[in-house]
Amino acid sequence: MTLQDKLKALLDTARAELQGAPDAESAERFRVKYLGKKGELSAALGQMGKLPPEERRAVGEVANEVKAQLEALIGEAQKRAELAQLEADLKGPKLDVTLPGRGQRQGKAHPVSQMMDEMIRTFERLGFDVVSGPEIELDWFNFEALNIPKDHPARDMQDTFYVDLAGPHPDNPVLLRTHTSPGQIRTMLARPPPVRVIVPGRVYRRDSDLTHTPMFHQVEGLLVDAHVTFADLKGTLDAFAKAIFGASVKTRFRPSFFPFTEPSAEVDLSCVQCGGKGCRVCKMSGWLEVLGSGMVHPNVFKACGYDPEKVTGFAFGCGVERMAMLKYQVDDLRSFFESDARFLEQF
Ligand code: DAH
Repeated sequence: MTLQDKLKALLDTARAELQGAPDAESAERFRVKYLGKKGELSAALGQMGKLPPEERRAVGEVANEVKAQLEALIGEAQKRAELAQLEADLKGPKLDVTLPGRGQRQGKAHPVSQMMDEMIRTFERLGFDVVSGPEIELDWFNFEALNIPKDHPARDMQDTFYVDLAGPHPDNPVLLRTHTSPGQIRTMLARPPPVRVIVPGRVYRRDSDLTHTPMFHQVEGLLVDAHVTFADLKGTLDAFAKAIFGASVKTRFRPSFFPFTEPSAEVDLSCVQCGGKGCRVCKMSGWLEVLGSGMVHPNVFKACGYDPEKVTGFAFGCGVERMAMLKYQVDDLRSFFESDARFLEQF
């Protein structure tokens, strides 16, 4: 068989194979088979070099013609494949244009996050820096340096989760922080006075009932400088309460005890529900307990290398869920953590 005949035969085979409506994949397979670099046409043309020069021209013409026809054939096959696919798509049940649309639902911040953000913004306006500390903490930062020694009964107030990890020393076990107060210690060890910081974050206690969850959030505050007084503490927390709940809210400072402050005070707000007349929310007292506070204890300053003869300071710790419950009028703390969109969407 001459090379010309071979080329023509090639075209005939291709024509036969390419009949019908192939899918896109088989059209591509044909293209590779016939026109690819290692395809049939290339193989046939490889033999041209062996021909005497006079014959090459004639064979070349045939080859070009065959190539053009092959390209046309494959192009048509590709078009038929596309059409077939389109028709299948239109017939098929894949798209029901009569179904109602699924709207895109817009997400938003969790109410506890919203409350936290508002508290942070408020303290930022009052000049506080925002710092953070680790949730997995050492006993020393969480208790010892805060003037809560090993067998102090105040440890009972905070039922602790211990972490099964070796601490740096047997007396300094690893735990989940029970409050954000270790943030005070870490801040004072890291920078010299004056300091004015808040430490927002998650805290953990072995506690679970209507008003307690094992994880909750606090915002800690610490202000240290020369000549800081209890009046500064009162002014700051009063401004904070009014920023969050409105100018008519009143604050009340009750004597209390925390090992890391002296004197210590529990801070109440006039009931945000009834304005102080007495209702279910304030248990008829007219007041709501919202945070702990006090003047930083000299032992805390000493643990951090601050000189209690030169500086004074105040500190406070505020529960974020408690504030969110009051602000958004939620009466079961646990509903914040059930991830029910119908509840969360309301805020
Ligand atoms: N850490 C205390 C708690 O979680 C709250 C607290 C009380 C923080 C008084 C303070 C403070 O900084 O001065 O119960």
